Amino acid sequence: MSKPTPPAEDKEFAISRFMESLKKFKRLKYCEPSLGFLGFFLVILGFIGCFLYLDYRAVTKAFQSPFQSERFLWLQFVDGSIINHKKVEFLSEMGGGCDVFEGDWVWDESYPLYHSRNCSFLDEGFRCSENGRPDNFYTKWRWQPKDCNLPRFKPKLMLEKLRNKRVVFAGDSIGRNQWESLLCMLASGVQDQNLIYEVNGSPITKHKGFLVFRFTDYNCTVEYYRAPFLVLQSRPPRGSPEKIKTTLKLDVMEWNSGNWKDADVLVLNTGHWWNYEKTIRGGCYFQEGGEVKMGMEVEAAYRRSMETVISWINSEVDMGKTQVFFRTYAPVHFRGGDWRISGACHLETLPELGLSVLTQTSPIFNIAIDVLSSHSNISKIKGLNLLNVTHMTSKRKDGHSSLYYLGPKIGPAPLHRQDCSHWCLPGVPDSWNELLFAIFLKRLKNSTIFRTHMT
Ligand SMILES: *[C@@H]1O[C@H](CO)[C@@H](O)[C@H](O)[C@H]1NC(C)=O
Ligand SMILES: *[C@@H]1O[C@H](CO)[C@@H](O)[C@H](O)[C@H]1NC(C)=O
Ligand SMILES: *[C@@H]1O[C@H](CO)[C@@H](O)[C@H](O)[C@H]1NC(C)=O
Ligand SMILES: *[C@@H]1O[C@H](CO)[C@@H](O)[C@H](O)[C@H]1NC(C)=O
Ligand SMILES: *[C@@H]1O[C@H](CO)[C@@H](O)[C@H](O)[C@H]1NC(C)=O
Repeated sequence: MSKPTPPAEDKEFAISRFMESLKKFKRLKYCEPSLGFLGFFLVILGFIGCFLYLDYRAVTKAFQSPFQSERFLWLQFVDGSIINHKKVEFLSEMGGGCDVFEGDWVWDESYPLYHSRNCSFLDEGFRCSENGRPDNFYTKWRWQPKDCNLPRFKPKLMLEKLRNKRVVFAGDSIGRNQWESLLCMLASGVQDQNLIYEVNGSPITKHKGFLVFRFTDYNCTVEYYRAPFLVLQSRPPRGSPEKIKTTLKLDVMEWNSGNWKDADVLVLNTGHWWNYEKTIRGGCYFQEGGEVKMGMEVEAAYRRSMETVISWINSEVDMGKTQVFFRTYAPVHFRGGDWRISGACHLETLPELGLSVLTQTSPIFNIAIDVLSSHSNISKIKGLNLLNVTHMTSKRKDGHSSLYYLGPKIGPAPLHRQDCSHWCLPGVPDSWNELLFAIFLKRLKNSTIFRTHMT
């Protein structure tokens, strides 16, 4: 767990070595002043000069952002000083067609957007730096779309736009990760933190069915409903075999979905629980109508449940009032196995920079997107916002809680019990919420424009 040597030090070393050899060359020149050698020497000198110039620039850049590869520095240089001027603002009229999910992670000293110490709305499990994580590089990356610039997150502006409104997150614990991130991001714009409170007085602890935080000054609530499958998990039909402990009712939404549908912003996610381990192995089988489908595979069940989510949106959600977001799968990064067989991510301190392909091609990634896009002929589903974070997130192997999820008193977890699914906060989910913020504002703007055209 030692910190990596910053590449800048290597470069300084290299330069001093070049300087030395340069001096040696100069001494040689005085000893043997042959014309041919002089010419040769001048060419070499020019070469070295060029090299040093380039290298020097890399070094000065490296001091501003010491932990990037040289190739990336070059990319960022091109990015920062030439292309950026041409990039449109996503919120401007010109920015409409920009795919904000295609881009790169860039180092930004102005990040993070908040500090976990100042935010009381975070699970202990996400407070990595307080739990002993030695590096804080993972808090310093900003998502930069390729073809446009995102607006800087402004908590007061977002709260103002959310006045008298409800934001609802429904999904698994990664959804909770994102919800807590948004709470902290918004709370950073509120002076008196006592004006933010859970309406039932419940503390932030892991296994509550739901939590509702109110921002008093704005009469706005930001809510989380635990629903890892989005559809209902409950007791099996009477007389079922012993081994069936529970069933997932693939054609029925989660019992608390009645509370989601009238939200003004609804952020859904699912995916991490749709596997054999978290279903059939634990005696959780799939059910449609009154019938338990013993032979049904997880993938088919996931598809079926997504159909239910879609028809629920179609029949229950008023898309004129509710902005619906579906956040896509957030990849895990267990290197050398999964959580059961000592998969690890605790040595990762840098994102995947530059071009990279998705390393995980699990079909689970695409099921939700598949089903959603095959129903995009339903106009309501067309109006749904895909928070397509899978690709950008796959590059952030450095962002996980890894060993640092147990709280400061207990200290780092054993090496074989790493968490390479959840995310440290501040961290990666903040970027998902910046995208949420950007698209939310864009939509509001669009609807205002629409209304002005109508009247
Ligand atoms: C999601 O984003 C990635 C990266 O930009 C892109 O390759 C993919 O096609 C997108 N998927 C959808 C469904 O928009
Ligand atoms: C937030 O926390 C950081 C570091 O823990 C501290 O330097 C800063 O002053 C705090 N900011 C506020 C507004 O409390
Ligand atoms: C507060 O917001 C709720 C919707 O979340 C709304 O029904 C209610 O009228 C608002 N109260 C005030 C005083 O504006
Ligand atoms: C959408 O397409 C599917 C098949 O691609 C079809 O079954 C369904 O009826 C269509 N729905 C509408 C509203 O057109
Ligand atoms: C805004 O409206 C334009 C034109 O109707 C549309 O192409 C675009 O997708 C909309 N943007 C968002 C974020 O809804």
